[in-house]
Amino acid sequence: MRIAVAGKGGAGKTTISATAARHLAGKGFRVNALDDDPNPNLAAALGLSEKLVEKLRRVERDEILEERETEDGAAELYLTRPFDEVIDGYGAVGPDGVRVLTMTGLLGAGKG
Ligand SMILES: Nc1ncnc2c1ncn2[C@@H]1O[C@H](COP(=O)(O)OP(=O)(O)O)[C@@H](O)[C@H]1O
Ligand SMILES: [Mg+2]
Repeated sequence: MRIAVAGKGGAGKTTISATAARHLAGKGFRVNALDDDPNPNLAAALGLSEKLVEKLRRVERDEILEERETEDGAAELYLTRPFDEVIDGYGAVGPDGVRVLTMTGLLGAGKG
């Protein structure tokens, strides 16, 4: 199952995402938590130590994804390596076994 959480800033997206992720992982589900916020703080909300948060490396789209065109001309994204490898290389494992990846983040002032 994939759950995407989006909406207005300050509405509680990160809080509820982190709580749901840990709750489900604690029940034995395999949970991958992907932070796609330009100001990422899901890892901290999940309870990762500062050391683990520092270990997280932002995933650059082209490093793990490839765009392919379908027969009807639509663009689709595919992972270019096994997801476990992506987690090992860029992510971290937090409390309750939640696996975390940070997909975005500011590149710098005026850089988008
Ligand atoms: N159910 C809630 N009741 C009260 N405060 C909350 C609740 N959910 C989140 N908050 C607080 O509101 C603020 C914004 O929450 P956050 O999860 O960071 O929002 P978002 O990720 O949508 O920007 C935080 O300070 C958080 O602790
Ligand atoms: Mg947030």
